[in-house]
Amino acid sequence: MAASEPAKSDEYILNRDWRAMARLNQRHHLFKMVQGFLLHPSVSLKAGAKVAEIGGGTCIWAVDLLNELPFSIDIDAIDISLAQCPPKAWLPNNIQLITHDVYQPFPDHMIGIYDLVHVQNWLCVWRNQTSERLIRNLTALLKPSGYLQWSEQDPTINTIVHAPGSPLSTEATEELLRFLKKPQESISFEWVSQLGPILAQNLSLVAFDRQEIRKELQAFWNITVLQGFEELASNLQRRDKTDENASKAAKLREVAERGSAELLNGNGIYTELVVAVVQKSPNSMI
Ligand SMILES: C[S@@+](CC[C@H](N)C(=O)[O-])C[C@H]1O[C@@H](n2cnc3c(N)ncnc32)[C@H](O)[C@@H]1O
Repeated sequence: MAASEPAKSDEYILNRDWRAMARLNQRHHLFKMVQGFLLHPSVSLKAGAKVAEIGGGTCIWAVDLLNELPFSIDIDAIDISLAQCPPKAWLPNNIQLITHDVYQPFPDHMIGIYDLVHVQNWLCVWRNQTSERLIRNLTALLKPSGYLQWSEQDPTINTIVHAPGSPLSTEATEELLRFLKKPQESISFEWVSQLGPILAQNLSLVAFDRQEIRKELQAFWNITVLQGFEELASNLQRRDKTDENASKAAKLREVAERGSAELLNGNGIYTELVVAVVQKSPNSMI
C-alpha cells in the first residue's frame, strides 16, 4: 500500500496518509515535551542494545532516539503496515523495518532478544478481548531483565479547562469529549489507568507515572485532537461507502468544526499521559 492511501485492509480505524503522519509526528513531539524523555529514566540501555518499537508508525521515535543516544543501538521498527515509514535507504542502518501483526506470535529468531520493547499511542489498536495475547507476544520478545515501556494518553480523565476570562460556550467541546471517551461500542479506555497493574501481572513493575498536558501545550495538543476527528471521518467514508458511514463522518466533521471555534479560542482539554515501565525477571526462561 502506498503511503498516500488510507488504511483499508486491516481493522485500523485511523489513516496512514500524509495527514495522519503529520498528526503522529506532532503527537510524538508533544509526548516528548510533556514527559521530558524518550526513554524513561528507570530504563538503562548499553551500547549495542536491541530495541523493538511496536507499531512504529512513521519511525519518528526510533529516529529521534538514535539522535539522542551517545552510543549505537539497533532498533527493529515493527508494524502491521510500513506505509508510513520513510524509504529504508533514508533510515540509519541500525533501524530495521519489520512487517508483523503483533497479535500473531513472533518468529523464533525474534524471541527473547530485546533489551527494550517500546509501545506508544495504542488507544485505537488495543481491544480488551485480545489484550492477553498482545501482552504475551510482547513479553516473549524480551530478554531476561529486558524492559517494556508503554506510554498512552488517558481519555477517561478528559475534562474541559478554560483560559481565564474565556467567555466561550463549551457545548461542542463537551460533545468532542463524550466521543473521545467512547468512540466506538467495541472500544473502551479504562485499561489505560490500569496499564501498570495489567503489565505487572507477568512482569515486575518499575514505574507507573502520570503527567498532565500543561496549559502552554493545550493549543498544540487540541489541534491533534481535531486532526484525529478528521481522520476518523475520512477513514469511515473510505472504508465502506455506506450512507450510514457518510452520515457518521459528516457528524464528526461538524462537531470538530464547532469544537475548533471553542478549542482554539480559550477552551482546553485537561488530560494526562501515563507511562508504565515493567521488567522481565533476570531468571526468566521464557
Ligand atoms: C496511532 S499509531 C502510533 C504510531 C507510533 N507508535 C507513534 O506513537 O507515532 C498506531 C500504529 O500501530 C500500527 N498497528 C495497528 N495494528 C497493528 C498490529 N496488529 N500489529 C502491529 N502494528 C499495528 C499502525 O499501523 C500504526 O502505525
